[in-house]
Amino acid sequence: MQATPLTLENVELNAVADAHGTPCYVYSKAAIVEAYQSYTQALGDHPGKICYAVKANSNLAILQLLANIGSHFDIVSMGELERVLRAGGAPENIIYSGVGKTRGEMHYALKVGIAAFNVESEAELHQLSEVASEGGFTADISLRVNPDVDAKTHPYISTGLKENKFGVGIKEAPSIYAKATSLPGINIVGVDCHIGSQLTDASPFLDALDRMLALIDELSEAGITIKHLDLGGGLGVTYRDEVPPKVSDYLDAVKERLGDRDLLLMFEPGRSIVANAGVLLTEVLYLKPGDHKNFAIIDAAMNDNLRPSLYQAWQNLLPLNPAKSDVEIKTWDVVGPICETGDFLAKDRDMALTAGDRLALMSSGAYGFVMSSNYNTRGRAPEILVDGDQFHVIRERESFDDMIRGEHLLSSEEAK
Ligand code: LLP
Repeated sequence: MQATPLTLENVELNAVADAHGTPCYVYSKAAIVEAYQSYTQALGDHPGKICYAVKANSNLAILQLLANIGSHFDIVSMGELERVLRAGGAPENIIYSGVGKTRGEMHYALKVGIAAFNVESEAELHQLSEVASEGGFTADISLRVNPDVDAKTHPYISTGLKENKFGVGIKEAPSIYAKATSLPGINIVGVDCHIGSQLTDASPFLDALDRMLALIDELSEAGITIKHLDLGGGLGVTYRDEVPPKVSDYLDAVKERLGDRDLLLMFEPGRSIVANAGVLLTEVLYLKPGDHKNFAIIDAAMNDNLRPSLYQAWQNLLPLNPAKSDVEIKTWDVVGPICETGDFLAKDRDMALTAGDRLALMSSGAYGFVMSSNYNTRGRAPEILVDGDQFHVIRERESFDDMIRGEHLLSSEEAK
């Protein structure tokens, strides 16, 4: 149990909760910068690009911060594209992934001049060729190849097996590349894969890499030159006691296996840049001790952070203030106010809790706010960025009017 109140950088989290209430997301600028730089340092002087996966946390200020330190971006929608541009990111630093890009999205991305598309199916390749040639553009592409390796992570975030919807099968890839060489508006630049998220072991990455390199060699023999190899994101973080590979060890192993192939390396990290840079602050509303279970009802819920409900994810829960010595430690299920049994943020936690206590759900910087919703008409939480001893609101708490914007009552006649 900690002896002093929790801080992020030099800010006491109580001060943030006093100023902005709970629930509330709080991120550390220094932690984000440091995590991003661990990738650029590990890349060293090998040619490469670190393309932050915007889906992990797409707040404009965070994208701005990353753009300012030279990050490239991996996007999966027009909305994410707009966010990066609005945050000051350069279009030529953007790559576009995702299985369901629409014609409109393709056209817009070509018009603003993004760097490349990660194409996920043969049908998409044909559509991109049409959209590009109709508009007088050339689309630089990689095929996202599914290397059929087991990432050994939660099934919902495992993407590189044959049965997953992502990418083209590695056996089909050479013939699709061959077709791509003759399609108008298409210029082959790379090979891409992404096998899953929250990987805590490097071996699936390296197995995928070996398969990608064999494919690149095969393509080269067929006269198709690949300039870049994009290995996707997926490096895990410590939520509890996981020991993921260090970024530098992973990238060193990758560089070593390239041999004398002249390949620019690309990575699409999301979680490992932002997860451990953020916390979700919440307050205990009521305690409901019982014969069978003890429930602590807090003011944050599954609409604020879906990860525990959706993936049975475990995130640490710490009290902001040292526990009072006269409060008994009990085993609590820490649950939200939403009318669903699946609405919990933590289960079976041994804690000394009192109503009114403030808690921090740790490792909440990735896939937290971005997956939040208005379920039960709950406004989404504000987001605060800590910088040294300062903190800035980077997104306001959503108001009731924000939530109903765009809804229309029927006329009195129509409502009869
Ligand atoms: N690139 C592609 C094509 C992806 O699909 C993803 C994540 C990434 C990069 C970034 O992966 P990361 O470095 O963050 O692992 N909501 C889930 C995670 C879903 C990941 C989806 N794709 C969670 O909360 O655990």
